[in-house]
Amino acid sequence: MGKVLICGQVLGFTENPFDVPVEDAARYERRGAVLVGDGRIAAVGTAEDLRAAHPGVEAVDYGDGLVTAGFVDAHAHYPQTAMIASWGKRLIDWLNTYTFPEEMAFGDAEYAAEIAARYFDLTLANGTTTVCSYCTIHPESVEAFFAEAQRRGVRTVAGKTCMDRNAPERLRDTAARAYDESKALLERWHGVDRLSYAITPRFSPTSTPKQLEALGALWAEFPDCPMQTHLSEQTDEIEWVLGLYPEARDYLDTYERFGLLGAGGLYGHAIHLEAREKDRLREVDASLIHCPTSNTFIGSGLFDMAGLTAAGHRVGLATDTGGGSSFSMLRTMAAAYEVGQLNGSALHPAQLYWLATTGSARALRMDDRIGNVAPGMEADLVVLDLTSTPGIAQRAARAGDIWEALFPTIMMGDDRAVRDVWVGGVRV
Ligand code: GUN
Ligand code: ZN
Repeated sequence: MGKVLICGQVLGFTENPFDVPVEDAARYERRGAVLVGDGRIAAVGTAEDLRAAHPGVEAVDYGDGLVTAGFVDAHAHYPQTAMIASWGKRLIDWLNTYTFPEEMAFGDAEYAAEIAARYFDLTLANGTTTVCSYCTIHPESVEAFFAEAQRRGVRTVAGKTCMDRNAPERLRDTAARAYDESKALLERWHGVDRLSYAITPRFSPTSTPKQLEALGALWAEFPDCPMQTHLSEQTDEIEWVLGLYPEARDYLDTYERFGLLGAGGLYGHAIHLEAREKDRLREVDASLIHCPTSNTFIGSGLFDMAGLTAAGHRVGLATDTGGGSSFSMLRTMAAAYEVGQLNGSALHPAQLYWLATTGSARALRMDDRIGNVAPGMEADLVVLDLTSTPGIAQRAARAGDIWEALFPTIMMGDDRAVRDVWVGGVRV
């Protein structure tokens, strides 16, 4: 594969903007360029310097387009694509009324393949180049998703969603089947091309202690696999969990006691946490995944971004489609901003953008490969038009710096703002 020089405004991160002043966290070039070859970023600099150093290399010039890392969505449910934006329920009713009936269809490999293709069409059109997705109980749903990801060359994390109680019979496996099928899928897909397998107990209410124990044992056998689940999303869910697990000290303990707490653990939502839960999550350096459009849509609550980042928690950002109401990480950043405001802290555009790229990659423990524009990183890029609608353009025209120019697109942008997407150094 030949080299290509991608020119535009270029933005990447050198530090975590929750840890250092935002002006020290980013690297920005007004007339920048990214040299790409063999699927990776070979160099980043000014367009002038890189053109002079690589005179024979084909250049793609996006002018005022903003070139950044592609978005990383750290928690999604691809099988919920077709039932996104279903009205009027809270978590448990929403699962029973809309989610479980739709997920039943994924035993059909053809339907799973159709939705997987549709899902990647939608997420790539929105500039998302990596997702970490739940599948359904059916191995077919995992096969379909990984096969589609592999065809498109995208870095992807996914796993079979395990449930052996409190779900319709057709969506239940057993402890043994959850272990066996997860293990077979893991052995088939984990580490193949750009794919990673995540061990995936849906959440404590839909697993027996026996199933959680089996999946904890599987994680101990394959500790380099991520493990994803849900934690403390709604207050009535928490009450239900404590009733189902009377010995547990708190919701997190239902995972902890079965070997399902650790680094590499991805805990979706994590809104209503007790002090002990926060301490333990911090101690093991687990990842908390903020799903702001879902948390407002399903009415779950306000994630404490300021408090958790100040305490040193590892935090990622995610759509949680279809509990989340958008496929767009721009819309998701906007919702994170709004939730922050309701909590009394305004997230800076650098913090929002970091969360949607480097932060989520770090939550997935993939920040050595994706989520940033830097030499050696995989060349997954999004090119944004910061003037994609008249309303955005007139506001951006007044901007004094890149953050002020970017913020209207964060708050009001959608897939119309996505000019181009590069996956593994290939324009898609
Ligand atoms: N908790 C358990 N399953 C789900 C799900 O599919 N979506 C959300 N938002 N929460 C869950
Ligand atoms: Zn979820």
